[in-house]
Amino acid sequence: MTEHVPRRTAEPRRLRRTVVLALTGALAAAGLAVSAGAAQAADSLGSAATAKGRYFGTAVASGHLGETDYAATLDREFNAVTPENEMKWDATESSRGNFTFGAADQIVSHAKAKGMKVRGHTLVWYSQLPGWVGGLGASDLQNAMDNHITQVMQHYKGQIYAWDVVNEAFQDGGSGARRSSPFQDKLGDGYIEHAFRTAHSVDPAAKLCYNDYNTDGVNAKSNAVYAMVKDFKQRGVPIDCVGFQSHFNSQSPVPGDYQANLQRFADLGVDVQITELDIEGSGSAQATNYGNVVKACLAVSRCTGMTVWGVTDKYSWRSSGTPLLFDGNYGKKPAYDAVLAALGGSSSGGGTDPGDGGGSTKSCTATYTETQRWGDRFNGQVTIRAGSSALSGWKVPVTVHSPQKVSTTWSGNPSWDAGGNVMTMASTGGLAAGATTSFGFTVMANGTWTAPAVGACTAS
Ligand code: XIL
Repeated sequence: MTEHVPRRTAEPRRLRRTVVLALTGALAAAGLAVSAGAAQAADSLGSAATAKGRYFGTAVASGHLGETDYAATLDREFNAVTPENEMKWDATESSRGNFTFGAADQIVSHAKAKGMKVRGHTLVWYSQLPGWVGGLGASDLQNAMDNHITQVMQHYKGQIYAWDVVNEAFQDGGSGARRSSPFQDKLGDGYIEHAFRTAHSVDPAAKLCYNDYNTDGVNAKSNAVYAMVKDFKQRGVPIDCVGFQSHFNSQSPVPGDYQANLQRFADLGVDVQITELDIEGSGSAQATNYGNVVKACLAVSRCTGMTVWGVTDKYSWRSSGTPLLFDGNYGKKPAYDAVLAALGGSSSGGGTDPGDGGGSTKSCTATYTETQRWGDRFNGQVTIRAGSSALSGWKVPVTVHSPQKVSTTWSGNPSWDAGGNVMTMASTGGLAAGATTSFGFTVMANGTWTAPAVGACTAS
């Protein structure tokens, strides 16, 4: 490869800038139109679930909302969100009485703007609990718990579909016992009931859930939760729903009696929800498991919705197990297709591509990786993946950080802005549905090693 200076066009400087700004605006407008259009379409997880009277949600991390592909995938596919960490006690009240809602507010306002439901997660949990809580004596702890529930629920009053009031209060294994925690150890068994009663007094419109894991099939732990819920319903303790986290892998596979277990809880007179679904694995095995979970929920009339625990494998809390529906490039995995099929939806690429007549379904994603580095420069590679329709072309803007300069490019047609920092790379040909291709470039660092900003891929 011979290094050379970036190719430039011959237009006068001002005209070039105008053209680039207009082009950028047009691309942004096209991008918005694509997500807004698709959000209404019948070929997304959310719309397919809605047609079945359910929601389809995902855990969201506020820190990723600024990433174009993340937000576009979220907005296109999901109609419910659960803040992955932002509403937990350590995030909302890290020191006593000082409440911070900034990160959670970001998620809630995004969700509201898009008409998505919000699951509140979680008010009382032994984990991600600031140290000061564990240091309190019993009566102080009771006050702190009541105040925490009250302040957090009041802040979001009217905006939360369902709250995980208490999370993971039972031990694993065969004992059916409560898990040790500051709440359990100092307040005793009654703390769960107390938490639900307090929550109900603050926001009577929100559904109040108990949420746990390893309770997905019939076993000693789920039996213990079942007995508690049954007792609550008999005595009028305000509980509306039970959440089944459903974190599955080879050690903890989808149980054969998953549906039966959901049904027995529903028969107690509560809604059931799949709250944190992820299934480690890949390919058709993972797809089959996902399809079965969705079918189980649909078979239980009180299973009101499903939430997967993240948008993309790359940000999953169990990333190495690739447990989610979208890969690290936001490509749809076989598991996605299985979920959509189980929901009765159909992929936009399937057979009848509306083409140019009925609103294009063409889409693509772009992902950056640095492939090599020397003392003065590095090579970047951008991988383009076509969505479920074939593309005749694509474009991706790449911005380097001055004083960096792109010295070489390959496998694409670059054009430049006036300053030479924004390179728009266009395809040299078409791309089959679901296929990937890549282009590359060398960046002279000139002392700055920040990775280039890779914008959204525009399909044509
Ligand atoms: C996890 C988050 O995904 C991680 O980002 C965090 O570091 C730890 O917590 N059960 C729950 C969730 O109820 O809150 C947990 O989320 C996963 C297990």
